[in-house]
Formats: sequence, structure tokens, C-alpha cells
Amino acid sequence: MTTTGGFADLGRILVIIPTYNEAENVEPIVGRLRAALPEVHVLIADDNSPDGTGDLADKLAIDDDHVHVLHRRGKEGLGAAYIAGFQWGLGQGYDVLVEHDADGSHQPEQLHRLLEALRDADLVLGSRYVKGGSVVNWPKSREILSRGGNIYTRLALGVPLQDATGGFRAFRRQTLEGIGLAEVASAGYCFQVDLAWRALKAGFRVAEVPITFIERERGQSKMSQRIVVEAMLLVGRWGLAYRGNQVRQGVRKLTGRGSTDRPRASQGS
Ligand code: GDD
Ligand code: MN
Repeated sequence: MTTTGGFADLGRILVIIPTYNEAENVEPIVGRLRAALPEVHVLIADDNSPDGTGDLADKLAIDDDHVHVLHRRGKEGLGAAYIAGFQWGLGQGYDVLVEHDADGSHQPEQLHRLLEALRDADLVLGSRYVKGGSVVNWPKSREILSRGGNIYTRLALGVPLQDATGGFRAFRRQTLEGIGLAEVASAGYCFQVDLAWRALKAGFRVAEVPITFIERERGQSKMSQRIVVEAMLLVGRWGLAYRGNQVRQGVRKLTGRGSTDRPRASQGS
């Protein structure tokens, strides 16, 4: 098995790129990833894009044995595509699994930051909202929505994360194996909060490193109002359930039975 140049100690690394109608973006992003970290493998998880993204991905895979394609039958959301990609990667024996958008919002040239931090963490979040992180070319309204979503998430769940909704992340395989992937139901954007929250609750070390998020120049976002509402409702519900549980555990502790479990996060570099 080959290992990753500067990251051989982490084992085999798979970058998963979910795609839906990313025909203009798929080739440039794979090219940038392969140039930035030549030993990393790439899996394109395409939901049968009508614009032919899946065929373009197949062509890339024919020319490059580090590129793989997972064809899914239709559009089922970002979360479902990632879960299928994770399961594929775990089945193939990869040690590190990375989430990465196709549209140029995440910079392959910054992936090394996540991998460096993964040496002392179980999950690393690329964060727009820690010192050194930034967002480029977003309308003010979208930034307010995203920052507000993160404040809401911190309040609802009590998690010490600055950017729990971002989609540029690196997981150790043990983290994915330990958080009950099969039970993750959220399909849209709250999928990201769901995974970070599960990792914290399971006691994994979650770190954040700064990234530069650049709004896509080509193609269309799949973000919709329905997805945002789904995320807010679910996060609120998880928070209430968790708090209810804490109260019950507190009562049990006072009455001398059971123990508490609290999520912890390590501070990233
Ligand atoms: N296979 C598949 N199926 N891929 C999808 C689907 C789907 O149903 N929906 C979106 N994607 C892919 C897109 O093709 C792109 O590569 C990536 O997922 C992100 O989709 P965008 O539509 O560009 O999302 P965004 O820019 O609004 O959201 C990004 O930022 C959010 C936080 O601000 C993502 O990184 C989100 O995960 C993140 O929460
Ligand atoms: Mn995008």
C-alpha cells in the first residue's frame, strides 16, 4: 500500500467529494487535490447528476488510479452521499476520510492544515470562524445565516465549536466507526452538526483549524430554505433531548445512581 508523502504516519487518506451537477468543477478540483497532495486518494460520490458529472468523473478515474467514483442512483442529499462514501472508504481500508466540496469553496492547498492537526485529534474541522479563518465572496445575508446557525448550535447543544456546520473536515477511521454512522439520518446540512456532535458525545478529540472558504464561481448551490429549517428544528430537538438527559442523570447522581457523560473538545492550533 502506498502512503501519503508528508503524512505517512496517518496511514492511507481518502478525500470524498460529493457531486450533484458539478460538471464545470469536478476536473479542476480533483486536479488541485492531486497536485497539492499527490499520495491522497479521491472518491467522487455522484448522485447521477443530469449534467454528466458522473461520466467526467469516470474519465478522470480511467486516467488516474488514485481517483475512484461511486455512482448513486439519484439525488439523496449531501449527508447520504457522504455516508455512502465513508462506508466505501472504510470498506477499502482507508485510515483517514476527508470531506471536501467540489465547487472550489474548500482549498485543496489547505488540506495539509487539517491533516497536521489530525495527528493530535480524532476529528478536525476546517473552520471559517476561528482566528485566521475567513469567508470570501459571500453575500452578507449568507454570512449572517451561517454565523447565526453556529451561535444557535452552540447555545442549543452547548458545544465549544466555532464552526460546527462547515463541510471541510478530516476524520480518523476510528471516529467514524465509533459514532454510529448507520443511525445518522440527517440528509442535508445539519448532517455536519450531527457528526461533530456525535464525535464530541462519544469522547473523541475534536479540533478546529482556520480555512479560507471561497464562494463558488461556477454552478449552483444546493442550499435551500427547507434544508436550513430542517437543520434548526433538528438541532433544537437534539439539544432539548440532551439537556433532558443531563437533568435525569443529575437526579440519578443525587440519588446515588449512574454517571454523567459530557462532550469535550480540544483546542485546535
Ligand atoms: N452527491 C451529492 N448529492 N452531492 C451533493 C448533493 C446531493 O444531494 N447536494 C450537494 N452536493 C454536493 C455539491 O455538488 C458540492 O460538491 C457539495 O455537496 C456542497 O454543495 P453546495 O450546494 O455547494 O453547498 P453549500 O456551498 O451551500 O454548503 C457548503 O457549506 C456549508 C456551510 O456553509 C457545504 O460544505 C456544507 O456541507 C456546509 O454545511
Ligand atoms: Mn458550495
